[in-house]
Amino acid sequence: MGYYLVEGGRPIGGEFAVRGSKNAALPILAATLLAKDEVVLENCPLIRDFYLTLDILKSLGCRVELKDRTVVIDTKKIQDVKIREETVQKMRSSILFLGALLGREHRAILGHPGGCAIGKRPIDIHLRAFEKMGVEIEEKEGLFYCTAPHILGYHIYLNYPSVGATENILLLAVKAEGVTVIHNAAREPEIVALVRFLRACGAEIYGEGTPSIMIEGVKKLHGAYFSIPFDRIEAGTLLCASAMTGGEISLMGAEKGDMEATLEAMEKTGCQFTFEAEKICMKPPKKLKSGFSLVTGPFPGFPTDMQPIMMSLLTLARGTCMISETVFEARFRHGEELCRMGANIVIEDRVAQINGCKGLHGAEVFGRDLRGGAALLVAALAAEGKSTVYGSEYVERGYERIEDVFSLLGGKIRLME
Ligand code: EPZ
Repeated sequence: MGYYLVEGGRPIGGEFAVRGSKNAALPILAATLLAKDEVVLENCPLIRDFYLTLDILKSLGCRVELKDRTVVIDTKKIQDVKIREETVQKMRSSILFLGALLGREHRAILGHPGGCAIGKRPIDIHLRAFEKMGVEIEEKEGLFYCTAPHILGYHIYLNYPSVGATENILLLAVKAEGVTVIHNAAREPEIVALVRFLRACGAEIYGEGTPSIMIEGVKKLHGAYFSIPFDRIEAGTLLCASAMTGGEISLMGAEKGDMEATLEAMEKTGCQFTFEAEKICMKPPKKLKSGFSLVTGPFPGFPTDMQPIMMSLLTLARGTCMISETVFEARFRHGEELCRMGANIVIEDRVAQINGCKGLHGAEVFGRDLRGGAALLVAALAAEGKSTVYGSEYVERGYERIEDVFSLLGGKIRLME
């Protein structure tokens, strides 16, 4: 259990090169199991979930060599197909190894992923799709025993454009017999990144970024060199921190196209953006304003991962804003903590009403999940006085040494173990 000590009221601004995307890196690491030869991944995010995923690859028998932000992975000699229950419960994205292991070994054993702070997070959409493609699944003592002597291409209709299910089906389909089409597929930039990586390994995939993705199974996939794209949620978090503290910021390596909904919402609060090649510059207004509503949803809608951080920003905006969280059923827990810092937020089920307040004051607050913790951090940087933000172990899962980043950008923040 660690916590951050923050002294707020200082502008967060300057120039910063955004790091690699957590939610692109994790599925790509699982996908390396499908490549016959060595894979080299550059611009890796050095965050807790990345290291945990490297540990899974090592536990399966892969050779993994990490130097700076580049990792070399050789999966030739894997000896295991089991992802333990405690691993899956520690990091939900390890369910993506199911598709990769089945695609490679035609068998896999996966621990039951529990829910987490933001919701139950079932995997029914994944499993239903797998069964359609010939995977036999038996659930015994909290483990899924999966076998697939033949993986058959199929037309899969997702009842929800699940990011993880789309990724898992891609991993299963790239070496299937025949053609798979994913209808109502997720369109997130992380899906596009995974497809680009698989294509670099020789996969035949069309339509990424659209609601229909077609995959023509191939016999084998070779190794590849690939660079992880930037983290759009880290970029959005830094933009909000600057907007809340009156700092101007330039983010290198950030692409407008992947952040349209976030930028549009921030423009409504009065933030002004200029764009250059792979660079986003932001100038905040003297006083943030709201008076609009936000609905989270699948890409290209407003990203649910930005909802907590945007809520923090809106606590300081003049006017009232309504946020509907349509993706996860329990993703407002940071709201009550923000109220302890002086925010005026009323939450009713999946709708939050944020009434702008004059300012936030420092307090002792508790982060209970990754993005909720980040939301409390940016609020503490904008608050008057000192704050203690607990839950650094959640924040470190998705942000690399965020205390150093904010210090570099003018903030007064320390991480205490
Ligand atoms: C990915 O989670 C991201 N995680 C999440 O980011 C992100 O919030 C989410 O996509 C939505 O964009 C990673 O990429 C590692 P989903 P995932 O399947 O794949 C329901 C962060 O903070 N559902 O699109 O789990 C589910 O319960 C994390 O970086 C089913 O009902 O998201 C949820 O309500 C948090 N059955 C909704 O769909 C299923 O089989 C969206 O889930 C699968 C999902």
